[in-house]
Amino acid sequence: MVETCVVVGAGVAAFGFVNTIREAGYQGRVVLVGAESVLPYERPPLSKQYLTGRKDEDALLFQPVSFYEERNIELRLGTPVEEIDLQRRVVRSADGNELSFDMLVLATGATPNRLPVPGAELAGIFTLRSLEDARALRAALAAAERVVVVGGGFIGCEVAASARTLGKQVALVETLPVLLGRALGVEIGSAITRVHERQGVALYLGRRVVGIEGRERAERVVLDDGTTLPCDLVVVGIGVRPVLPAVVGDLRFDDGVVVDATCATNVDGVWAAGDVARWWHPRIERFLRVEHYDNALAQGAAVAKAVAGQPEPYDAVPSFWSDQYDLTIQQYGYPVEWDEVVVRGDLDEPAFTAFYLKDGRVYGAVIVRWPREMRPARRLVEQLAQVDRTLLADPSVDLRQLLA
Ligand code: APR
Repeated sequence: MVETCVVVGAGVAAFGFVNTIREAGYQGRVVLVGAESVLPYERPPLSKQYLTGRKDEDALLFQPVSFYEERNIELRLGTPVEEIDLQRRVVRSADGNELSFDMLVLATGATPNRLPVPGAELAGIFTLRSLEDARALRAALAAAERVVVVGGGFIGCEVAASARTLGKQVALVETLPVLLGRALGVEIGSAITRVHERQGVALYLGRRVVGIEGRERAERVVLDDGTTLPCDLVVVGIGVRPVLPAVVGDLRFDDGVVVDATCATNVDGVWAAGDVARWWHPRIERFLRVEHYDNALAQGAAVAKAVAGQPEPYDAVPSFWSDQYDLTIQQYGYPVEWDEVVVRGDLDEPAFTAFYLKDGRVYGAVIVRWPREMRPARRLVEQLAQVDRTLLADPSVDLRQLLA
């Protein structure tokens, strides 16, 4: 009998998987089971070009349905999996159907956190993760004047930028003292904070939302210092958490499905990829869970090779970009604590490259408006290069000279 590989989730990581599985030589049956009823699509434009109307839904799909047919990939979309039974090796979906598997790929992603405050259930409060979320937000934005964004991470910053681009009044509330502080730290976060200020976003930093008020819909956001922000709609972007259906059996889960360097779980023939996976990164020798697009695609592809019988250590350097106004923020590197940030260029402009050093090694880099530094900066991170910080800080020194 032909072997069956079931992929739970039909998002970016699942697409990375199906895009590679046949090329990797796997001849078994492949079934993609996804909660959303759309074909796998690109999420990054949802908060940017899709929200501002510069891209429509058709342009978001990775591939048309013929792509899956040609590769003999079965699609079961719009059918959320409710339970994964690792003992009987079956997945049961919400419609009651059971599907047996020999191999299983967990690509279930993550889901947005909700605001834990009174009023959080009112109409007019949005999170942004799926195409469905983005459709609802795009429609609501068209009719709104005053937008309150809660959370100054990547989602909050991109939504604030898109809403300003559409001419809306935007207020943004963030608990940290700067925007993007969690990902980029205070120094670089400050530079991005100034950009949003100049673009006219009203910033409430170091503040917490304590409640949302309104009769049927959100009308006011109340902050911990008593400030009240009137609004027509609220967008909440306060982080995500990994999600998985109920599991029968002994699967290691600890802030994500725990996998080894080849993305294999502790259960034979079961892998994980994308936002839900926390894997042992062989180069930096620690567990990582990365919530970015590039990682989901590449890790899905790595799992495809493993399922096809050619497992390899997955050791990609995490890579991420964000578009806000006319800025592209490009980031490479590992989310570890750093000792020092070395900046070349101008934080105020902003046009710079920033390096995140730990124990004298380059663990990360952020590049803003300096495209020719991207490649060598990435190489420095790949090499965990040990470099002279004075040379690194000197913009007249060509980064390529610092590569090993
Ligand atoms: N009030 C205000 N701000 C808050 C609150 C709160 N109650 N809780 C958290 N925050 C702030 C955090 O300090 C952080 O700066 O919200 C921000 C959340 O940022 P991220 O963790 O980056 O999450 P988010 O922006 O929601 O993005 C989710 O989607 O595309 C990906 O890369 C993106 O991994 C990220 C994910």
